[in-house]
Amino acid sequence: MLIVRTIQELQEALHSHQLANKKIGLVPTMGNLHQGHLQLVKTAQQQADIIVVTLFVNPTQFGANEDLDSYPRTFKNDCEKLTSLNTDILFAPTIDEIYPRGGAGTSHVHVPTITNVLCGSSRPGHFDGVTTIVCKLFNLTRANVAIFGEKDYQQLAVIRRMVEDLNIPITIVGEPIVRETDGLAMSSRNGYLSEEQRTLAPKLYQILLDIQQIILNGSTDFEAVESNAKDQLRTLGFKPDYLHIYEHTELRPATPHDKELVIVVAAFVGSTRLIDNLHVQRD
Ligand code: PAF
Repeated sequence: MLIVRTIQELQEALHSHQLANKKIGLVPTMGNLHQGHLQLVKTAQQQADIIVVTLFVNPTQFGANEDLDSYPRTFKNDCEKLTSLNTDILFAPTIDEIYPRGGAGTSHVHVPTITNVLCGSSRPGHFDGVTTIVCKLFNLTRANVAIFGEKDYQQLAVIRRMVEDLNIPITIVGEPIVRETDGLAMSSRNGYLSEEQRTLAPKLYQILLDIQQIILNGSTDFEAVESNAKDQLRTLGFKPDYLHIYEHTELRPATPHDKELVIVVAAFVGSTRLIDNLHVQRD
């Protein structure tokens, strides 16, 4: 695996592949790679000839009181995992390489409306940071296809919307959530959980499954279902940030006419914020 640190090195590494019309696949990450990330790489390998993984803990998507400084950085381990998968190129730039004018001094991409809800309302500015870095990575690699995990459901919807609105010539592929055997969605933040919190965490998924079943059984009083589920989360020991039943692409409250729904949840276990989601197809 070729490790490149600068934009120039990246573009030199890609040049001959682009001239040979090779399909470039991009997997953007912030490192601390787990099985979920590795699945993104495997899917990219099925879709493209040359795989570029990026590893960049993007400061502009973290709020002032968030975990930017403590975000796990495990470069050596990450490289070993990516090498074992035969990744072609790892792009791991410095902050100055990406934001030579600083985060605030850099033009940014803003996707309206669907960024105002859920993580967008509890993490102001977060999605501007995400879309800006992702757009830069699309431009830097000129990738044909990029793979993102469905665990960050709103992030994936926002990126799809940006690509559509700005006519960016790239195919976006969503990768289903990879779960631990007890159902907990894999996440770099799971490493923050104490033993006791780790036992509680999978109940988040159980609640999503229960809601899915309630909807499939015919309930359309979505507000009541949401409110009951939040009460249950509190009783179990979670601190819910949000729990909603939404129409799956517009990310607005579901109505009884909507067929494809998504249940989205963010909840704190101690100081760790976990997110998860589950799709519901009504007939
Ligand atoms: O999902 C992530 O890890 C990040 O938000 C991403 C897409 C790599 C952008 O920094």
